[in-house]
Amino acid sequence: MDSLNHVAIIMDGNGRWAKSRGHIRVWGHVRGSKIVSDIVEEAESLGVKHLTLFTFSTENWSRPVHEIKILFRLLKKFLQKEKKRILKNRIKFKVIGDISQLPLPTKELIWEMEELTRDMKGLNLTFCFNYGGRTALIDRVNLLVEKGIPITEGNLTESFEVGDVDLLIRTGGDQRISNFLLWQMAYSELFFTPTMWPEFSAKEFREIYLKVAKRERRFGMADANDDWMTSAKLARINKETLGEMREV
Ligand code: IPE
Ligand code: IPE
Ligand code: MG
Repeated sequence: MDSLNHVAIIMDGNGRWAKSRGHIRVWGHVRGSKIVSDIVEEAESLGVKHLTLFTFSTENWSRPVHEIKILFRLLKKFLQKEKKRILKNRIKFKVIGDISQLPLPTKELIWEMEELTRDMKGLNLTFCFNYGGRTALIDRVNLLVEKGIPITEGNLTESFEVGDVDLLIRTGGDQRISNFLLWQMAYSELFFTPTMWPEFSAKEFREIYLKVAKRERRFGMADANDDWMTSAKLARINKETLGEMREV
């Protein structure tokens, strides 16, 4: 079984979940934010090394101001509530994306948590906040150019704060990437679940993880267990296949 070291999640479906229950969209965010710590805990027990969560996209600025404000407040609340546990579990916490427009106390809390957990060796927990995959890519290319470093796959991969994603999970039923970690998802396994984020659970997370861990990841290779001599012996060779092979 392959180990999926880096799991990224698009936590989607909060608004629809709340609306379908006759509530305002933002209530979905309130409920959704309560699920996050369960998933972090489950990731730790599964042995995941990096967990990257999409918390606010650059495109989410087009939402109503009151919704944006609530999302900002929930980020701060999460950090206040989870600070002790993050430190106790030796989680290395990081936010990527442009946080300049967050209120100062929230920014200070983020900086404090990043500083306190800088050398932690437990789960790498990264929040993508005000994050956009395209902007991130352009920023990195510009940075390399500025430093005179050649633009190669290896240099670009290394320049990012997070590495290649092994498993991307998106809740909420939509099957799209929505400008998330574009470069890092070139070879990710993708899993889309119809479950709305506020109803997502540690149990479903574990089930998805274990199911995907059994998939064969080929990275462009032929079947990893295929030994061509053996399979040539076993294969049915008849007139038809021989004829077609000769044409190649
Ligand atoms: C995801 O839930 C949370 C964020 C985008 C911040 P949504 O708010 O997108 O919920 P839906 O997709 O509208 O149901
Ligand atoms: C993606 O969800 C962003 C986050 C979960 C933070 P969206 O709900 O914003 O994505 P679209 O608009 O449906 O593609
Ligand atoms: Mg959505």
